Amino acid sequence: MAQLSEYLNKLETRKSIGFKTLDEEHVKSVWVQVNKAQISNWKVTNATVNRQIVKYLARSADFNGNLDKGIMLIGETGTGKTQMMKAVSLSMGFLQNFRFLIYSGLEMEAIFREENEDSDKLESALKQKMFGIDDIGEEHSTVKVYGTEINVGVEILSKRYNEQMNTGALTFATTNLTLDMLAKKYGKRIESRIHEMFNVIYLTGNDLRK
Ligand SMILES: Nc1ncnc2c1ncn2[C@@H]1O[C@H](COP(=O)(O)OP(=O)(O)OP(=O)(O)O)[C@@H](O)[C@H]1O
Ligand SMILES: [Mg+2]
Repeated sequence: MAQLSEYLNKLETRKSIGFKTLDEEHVKSVWVQVNKAQISNWKVTNATVNRQIVKYLARSADFNGNLDKGIMLIGETGTGKTQMMKAVSLSMGFLQNFRFLIYSGLEMEAIFREENEDSDKLESALKQKMFGIDDIGEEHSTVKVYGTEINVGVEILSKRYNEQMNTGALTFATTNLTLDMLAKKYGKRIESRIHEMFNVIYLTGNDLRK
């Protein structure tokens, strides 16, 4: 059955993006520099999370999760979620040549509502190997597009889930909502997909804006 395993292997490799495994010390130094370039007084606020993110970027087997999933950062306002996702994108860009675009839930809602040239840009961004959603759950549940009610969050997450299944695409997200709240907002089918799409990581601490 050598032919069968060859056939199955081919299917499997189509699903992987093809990241490099990197030296963790090097990745850590890039991670710190990327963050400091963004925020001059940047400091490590969630040490365990920072260590895990470095392992994720390095594609280390020690990462405490699944490297074939994206990351969802959950935490109260001002804990540094958006900054961390931006820094993941910038670091991925430098280290793995995969920088990704980030849209907020509200931005996507507005684009869905208006159906202008931004719609095509968003459509194409949603097909990319990586994509970031800032503040998922902040958008209104439904918007009317040409008279049809569309649930923006459900639409976006379903599209990204399908990309993941077809090409191994990864999605990153931040939210102030808990998984239970997301489940209530988006329903059981999306809740189930969220578990398959994301390593869920919690950010704690005080509001860094204060
Ligand atoms: N590690 C850090 N050290 C210092 N300042 C930081 C750090 N992370 C973020 N900040 C700053 O703190 C503020 C809040 O960060 P950020 O916007 O990432 O929080 P957030 O969790 O996304 O908040 P919200 O839930 O309101 O969107 C920003 O001004 C950001 O520049
Ligand atoms: Mg934010």
